[in-house]
Parts: sequence; structure tokens; C-alpha cells
Amino acid sequence: MQTLDTARYARSIEASRRIRWDIDRDVIRGRSFDPMHRFLPDGLSLAHELDFLSADERRFMSQVQGRTYANIFGLVERFINAKILEVSRDHWFGDQVALEALIRFSDEEMKHQELFRRIERLAGERMPEGYRFDVQPNDVAHFVLGKSTWAVLALTCDIELFTQAHYRASIAGAEGLSDLYKDVFLFHWKEESQHAILDELEWQREDAKLSAAERDTAVDDLIALVGGVDGILQAQAQADASYFLDTIGTAPESARAEAVRATVLKAYRWQYIVSGVSDPRFQKVLSGLITETQMQRIQQALTPLMHAVPAQPQLAEMAA
Ligand SMILES: [Fe+2]
Ligand SMILES: [Fe+2]
Repeated sequence: MQTLDTARYARSIEASRRIRWDIDRDVIRGRSFDPMHRFLPDGLSLAHELDFLSADERRFMSQVQGRTYANIFGLVERFINAKILEVSRDHWFGDQVALEALIRFSDEEMKHQELFRRIERLAGERMPEGYRFDVQPNDVAHFVLGKSTWAVLALTCDIELFTQAHYRASIAGAEGLSDLYKDVFLFHWKEESQHAILDELEWQREDAKLSAAERDTAVDDLIALVGGVDGILQAQAQADASYFLDTIGTAPESARAEAVRATVLKAYRWQYIVSGVSDPRFQKVLSGLITETQMQRIQQALTPLMHAVPAQPQLAEMAA
């Protein structure tokens, strides 16, 4: 087992070396956002479901959500990095290959946070006043890191798997998409695919340390974490819908405003929760670690969020 795992850590180092990119030289390349392009593809923003919006308004919707996308990643990568540094302790005087893999992981997440801060600034330069993102990465990190390591690694694995689903969506809905944003998806995905492998290894390693009772508590922690993420998404969906409606001049009490608010929340749940937990690989690892009763408990907690699977057959397939 040890040798098998070492080989997987080694492959991740090798891929990390090969893929390694630079924010300016490879991703941004002196570009800024063109307001004529969409940031997020429809498959993620679900802007196409708001059929009463004009083409310009739908594009603006994708830009508002794209800006939040950068901010949400900046947020989650703060706690992911702290947890990876923490679990690396177990390898300090042990498997040096595993240690190097995790150090590279951490270094990449530092870089990604900087990339997403840059994206937020570039988006801010081209978008109308009034956008807000008030959640603080450190506040979220304190809440998340208060839960068991098993649960944090499960959530992390989920996040790193959905960035891959998002890359696939960005190729599927590529038409009219900002080239810069497409590159954000592409380059982020390249490094995240290694992270997902490491999450899996660390999550399984942590799992082996737990008693049945500890694992059962960890399942509750995971449910609490998903609830916490959903709380953030609800607040940000409200903020983004208000900014969008104010900017396009729609009365907040109208039926259309209600539809915008509901669709933004549905899109955020789809992007940040459902597209990850419905990933077959996530399902496979999770079901290998927990009992059927525990799986049912998780599914029950997720049921109210699961309506966020898009109606488009092609995307529903992606979620299956
Ligand atoms: Fe990342
Ligand atoms: Fe990552």
C-alpha cells in the first residue's frame, strides 16, 4: 500500500513539474476583460434559463457570476491550503515524496489565490459600480478548520473535482466566452487534477486513523460544512442578484426579480455543491469510506440542494 501510494504521490510531483504555469506569462498575458464576452458558460451560470433577459443582460449575468467565481475560489483555497500544510506534518519525517507533493500543492494554491485576486481586480475595472463580496476568507477558514480533518478533506476533494467539471463545461459552452476566462478554467484545471488525486490519498489516509464512532461524527461535520457553504452561497446569490437587478433597472419586487434571485442561487448550488457531490469519482471514494446509513444521511441533507441540476440534457449527463 505504502509503495503504491508513494508512486501516486510521485506521479503528482511529475505532473506538477510538467504543468507548472505562471499567472502573467501564461494566464493573463497582459489582457483585460472584454465586456462583450461572457465570463461563465451558460452551463454554469444557467443564464439561458432566464429567457426574458436580453442577450446583453444574459451576458452581464455571466460576468457577475464569473466575478463571484473568482472570489469563491479565493475563499476556499485559503482553508484548503491551511489544511494541506497541516496534514503534511504526518510526512515531515516519513515519506519525503508525499511531503514534496503536498508542498507543491500548497504552493499552487497560494498562486491560485493570487490569480483569483487579479481576476477580481480586472473584472472590477470593467464592470459597473455596486458589486459586493463581503465574506472574509479567514472567517470561513476558521469555521471550516474547526471541523474534523476527515470532513475538511472530503469537502476539499469535492471542490477540486468540480473544478474539473467546470473546465469541461467551459469547453462545451465555449462560444462567445472570454478568452481570458477560458484560460482561467484551463490553467486552474491543469493543476487541480493533481490536487484531486492528493485529496483522495490524504482523505483515505485520515480515514484509516478513525474509529467507527469518530467517522460517524465526521459525517455530521461534512453535513455541517455543506450547510455552511450553502449559507455563503445564499447570501452571495442575494447580493449578486441585487447588484444585477439594480444595474439593469428591474424592480426588486417583480416576478422577474424573483426568478433572477432563484436562478442565481440554483446556479451557485450547482457550481459549488451539486457538480462536485454528483461527480462519479467523489461518489466512489465517499461510498468506499462510509456505511450505507451514513450515505443516506448525507443524501438526505443534500436533497433540498439537488434541484440545482440543470435541465439541459448535455449538462444533466455531466452531473450523472
Ligand atoms: Fe486552486
Ligand atoms: Fe486545488
